[in-house]
Amino acid sequence: MSEIIETTQKKKVLSCIQPSGMLTLGNYLGALKNWVAMQDEFDCTFAVADLHAITVRQEPAKLRAQIYSTYALLLALGIDPEKHTLFIQSHVPEHANLSWLLSCNTQFGEMSRMTQFKDKSAKHANNVNVGLFSYPVLMAADILLYKPDLVPVGADQKQHLEIARDIAIRFNNLYGDVFTIPDAYIPKTGARVMSLQDPTKKMSKSDDNLNSWVAILDSKDDIIRKFKRAVTDSEACVRFGAEKPGISNLMTIYSAITEKSIADIEKEFEGKGYGDFKLAVGESVADALAPIKTAYDEIIKDKKALEVLYKQGAQKAEYVARKTYFKAMKKVGFVL
Ligand code: TRP
Repeated sequence: MSEIIETTQKKKVLSCIQPSGMLTLGNYLGALKNWVAMQDEFDCTFAVADLHAITVRQEPAKLRAQIYSTYALLLALGIDPEKHTLFIQSHVPEHANLSWLLSCNTQFGEMSRMTQFKDKSAKHANNVNVGLFSYPVLMAADILLYKPDLVPVGADQKQHLEIARDIAIRFNNLYGDVFTIPDAYIPKTGARVMSLQDPTKKMSKSDDNLNSWVAILDSKDDIIRKFKRAVTDSEACVRFGAEKPGISNLMTIYSAITEKSIADIEKEFEGKGYGDFKLAVGESVADALAPIKTAYDEIIKDKKALEVLYKQGAQKAEYVARKTYFKAMKKVGFVL
């Protein structure tokens, strides 16, 4: 009995990640490590947001490989598809369907203010498609279908979560209670990882300088090499500070991986040079990522087993999504 009460009282969490190729150390420390940790406390729904990926041009074979690979990586990281729900967005048609209902309750002006749209349309100036514009509405549908209490998002997605809340409040006011209004979840630990080559910029896999980012699936040698080449300063003192963005970034990474405090790290490397420190950071990262890579290599080999899991995941997700979707349809006045 007490067990039942406990499970029904768990708060619900939802988050999604785009299948955009190589996920980085930044994705890991900033978000995914936290997804794994949240499974103990919350009832989690996680998805590979493949529909979002085509807002920029994708090569079909590559997209397909990346969807598989992202799903497999989430399993390798330790997302538990039995206790929680892990699925591929496009397998649950309610996402696209609800997105239409929400689109008709979202204003052009609201979408025009989204900073990510402004950035992305400048970056992909030859393909400013309507999907890129209305992407936050699809994201709102992803969220609202599952009635989560909390949505873990990084700083770049906060504006999108806010619009999802606005859309939900407006819809509920117009048609009656359908959606739960979710809160942003800011993790207690969650590192903002910067580029290893320009520590004033966020680490990003779309960076042309391949030494600026580390992939979760990089080899140990590559990881250590990239950390050895990381840009620092000329003071040669392992100390945290705004005027030392390179070293501070490495300290943030080391702290996130080893769970040592910044003060302890300063002590640990007192009197030591950057060479020693960079090697220690590189090794700690490589050691933390090695078991993930080993697990991934096994999982990705077995497409049949993967298929069983993502199909089960879609079924579980759809069971929840349908209920919300049909309730919304009914409230708007459609004949069911
Ligand atoms: N837009 C998010 C990103 O690019 C991914 C995403 C899609 C998402 N749907 C979501 C995140 C729902 C949180 C909740 O990172």
